[in-house]
Amino acid sequence: MRIHLKSADEIGLMREAGLVAAEILETVCEAAKPGISTWELDQIARRGIEKHKVKSAFLHYNPGGKPPYPGVLCTSRNEVIVHGIPRKNDVLVDGDIIGIDFGIYRAGFCADTARTVLVGNVSPEKRKLVEVCRQSLENAIALCVPGNRLGDLGHAVQSYVESNGFSVVRQFVGHGTGRAMHEDPQVPNFGKAGTEKRLKAGLVIAVEPMVNAGAPDVEELDDDWTAVTKDRSMSAHFEHTIAITEKGPWVLTRPTSTPGSP
Ligand code: MF3
Ligand code: CO
Ligand code: CO
Repeated sequence: MRIHLKSADEIGLMREAGLVAAEILETVCEAAKPGISTWELDQIARRGIEKHKVKSAFLHYNPGGKPPYPGVLCTSRNEVIVHGIPRKNDVLVDGDIIGIDFGIYRAGFCADTARTVLVGNVSPEKRKLVEVCRQSLENAIALCVPGNRLGDLGHAVQSYVESNGFSVVRQFVGHGTGRAMHEDPQVPNFGKAGTEKRLKAGLVIAVEPMVNAGAPDVEELDDDWTAVTKDRSMSAHFEHTIAITEKGPWVLTRPTSTPGSP
């Protein structure tokens, strides 16, 4: 596969997609309180999609002949790492952490973003896991500058996470994004500084650390989507779609970001 560098106009369109995705994700996250089901969260996102006249990037997605994905969100509670399917009987409970991942196409371009939300009163250990995951993404974003390498990003995430006593998932990685949700290159959350491809202006990537409290190993449930920690330890996930510009990172899925200021 090839890497598709984006023109300034294309990045402008991706910014519009990013703002819509961010707004809808924000609405969903505000609703993530004890007692609501992940199916209801999915319904809220569907209403946002209709309101903004955009298209879900997730619904019916079936890479490699997997069963078509049935939701517009991935809702990944506690030991679920990613790709949790919204369900009526999956109800949020005080003390949960839930990763909410949302992606759309607008004017032909994708924006992909995720956040882990604290539900009610969350234990200090789980809060630390979420905060370390969130900060590991910020550390990677700061390195999204032309000339840096993909290995620099992976190393930044991995070293920060491991120095805090947690582990990074290897089985899923971030990715280029554009006219397709998943484009080249792969963006691992692990690696060696100074290795792998150099970042260029015009590259747009989704960086998405998945951080486990225990071991990094993944198990897939029988629904062929839900990815849980093998040891059933807690897991967190954050994701932003980021354009590499001459001025530095532009976090397309963060409303306050401008080119060069994350
Ligand atoms: N948005 C996910 C990612 O970050 C992919 C979700 S695939 C789906 O790459 F089918 F589950 F939606
Ligand atoms: Co995503
Ligand atoms: Co992604």
